[in-house]
Amino acid sequence: MQVLVYLLFITVAWASPRLDPLVDSKRGLIRGLQATDGDYAMFLGIPYAMVNYTNPFGAALPYPDFEGTFDAYDDSAICIQNLQRTDQAIGTLECLHLNIFVPNKASSINKLPVLFWIHGGRFLYGNGGRTQFGAKYLVEKDVVLVTINYRVGLYGFMCLDTPEVPGNQGLKDQVAALRWVKENIEAFGGDPNQVTISGASAGGVSVDYHLLSKKEKLFNKAISQSGTSLCPWGVMESDQSVPIRIASRLGWETDDINDAVQFLANVDPKLVVTTALDLSITCVPCVEKEFEGVEDFITDHPMNYDISKAKNTPILIGYTNMEKLFEFYNKPADKYDENEIFDENLGLGFHTVDINQVSLVKQFYLGDEAVSEIMKYELTDFDSDYTFIHPIHRRLSNYLDNDGKVYHYVFKYSGGRNFGKLRDNITYPGAIHSDEYGYLFEMTALTDTPTDEDQIMMDRMTTMWTNFAKYGDPTPEISEVLPVKWLPITKNALNYLEIDNELIMKKRSYHARMAFWDLYYQTNKKSLKGYKEE
Ligand SMILES: *[C@@H]1O[C@H](CO)[C@@H](O)[C@H](O)[C@H]1NC(C)=O
Ligand SMILES: *[C@@H]1O[C@H](CO)[C@@H](O)[C@H](O)[C@H]1NC(C)=O
Repeated sequence: MQVLVYLLFITVAWASPRLDPLVDSKRGLIRGLQATDGDYAMFLGIPYAMVNYTNPFGAALPYPDFEGTFDAYDDSAICIQNLQRTDQAIGTLECLHLNIFVPNKASSINKLPVLFWIHGGRFLYGNGGRTQFGAKYLVEKDVVLVTINYRVGLYGFMCLDTPEVPGNQGLKDQVAALRWVKENIEAFGGDPNQVTISGASAGGVSVDYHLLSKKEKLFNKAISQSGTSLCPWGVMESDQSVPIRIASRLGWETDDINDAVQFLANVDPKLVVTTALDLSITCVPCVEKEFEGVEDFITDHPMNYDISKAKNTPILIGYTNMEKLFEFYNKPADKYDENEIFDENLGLGFHTVDINQVSLVKQFYLGDEAVSEIMKYELTDFDSDYTFIHPIHRRLSNYLDNDGKVYHYVFKYSGGRNFGKLRDNITYPGAIHSDEYGYLFEMTALTDTPTDEDQIMMDRMTTMWTNFAKYGDPTPEISEVLPVKWLPITKNALNYLEIDNELIMKKRSYHARMAFWDLYYQTNKKSLKGYKEE
């Protein structure tokens, strides 16, 4: 039996004794650090897999067992990417790492539930490090937190319909991390049979993908924040021209995909991703072609899955009320392009976009007003609905057959830790995309001492999320912190918890807007990408 061993180190004469946690995992000995801001240990940057340097766009390889002791002290490695705001290429291919945060009270006889967090960033950016996902507040509530890196952008999602680069490498990295957790988390004091996968934005989309993929089930509960695989930006078709175009831009002319891929495998990854950005190439999850002997993840459009894993999995799912305000709030007046906002956006989800239908969409949101800065809040509603909220509602109706429980929320709280609004300098009521992070995680961008109101929201969010990880129910009992019973959705009532200064149970959020889109999708069913004749 694995046990958690503590070694006492007297470091230097004048320093206080430090407790170094040492874990005997199935992969070898792993030494972590005792946190200084709470009663928990941190194991940072544990490699769970490694990129195949001969083919960095393809399947990852198992990481060899540790010889001697692995010092898990460093979570700074991030997967190669262009930074979201500056486009600067940063990161490395040696990035398939996970971080584990363990309350000191966890042990082999007191195993705690595990919250497995998948970061967002449109499958193009992001990492699981502590700058955004600090564990302090969640581990205080007696769960083990695991955060991960996975390949993003070109290296995570190039999709070529070949056995070497079948696509969805980043999602398969996540599966490798989940397998690692299943195999090893007990040694850290985590319960391998109480794993909750969770994530926001692309992480929320990923969670939904894990629910529908036919892979072995590596988790017990699921939390999906602001994203499902039905989001029009969450799935794409394979594109064999991608490596050929990038290679060509870099001076290697070929019309052979494998030749181009091999060429790119030997180019500095920073140059590769910067060139892809120059060519406006983005890669996200795709529908994979199946190959004998090649591990696949998604082989049909997400709308065609029966989501069998969701049937007995408790699910917590929701969104913020002003998701896409970040798109419009600071948009210069001359950048309001009607075609881009409506037609191109709709083209992401539909093969053909009927101009009469688009007029109806515009009328629905704008009346007879023209697209302009003045209409930024109406345009936010349109974009939020189309990009996030309606895809989540469509999944909610799929999840209705769920024998487990589905808990639905709308996050509207506006306080001093709304991460997205602070980052984008937005002062407007409500919550935008990623605003809820600050109430779940410690973040280096948020340095002020929380106000009393914010502290209450942090207590509520961390308690509901960890209750869900423990009991499959965010409010197993009414308490001072959680004075409201959160009811799951049912066939007759799309119950949701409105998370604002007060917690309030309500029914069927944005019902008129959602009904409009239900009709739009029904009317345009046959041009929906992924549609199959029955
Ligand atoms: C790494 O990728 C190359 C090229 O696709 C492949 O031939 C090789 O078998 C892979 N390595 C391993 C250990 O699977
Ligand atoms: C945020 O907005 C305020 C008011 O419009 C402005 O004065 C300030 O410079 C902005 N800050 C940043 C970082 O953009």
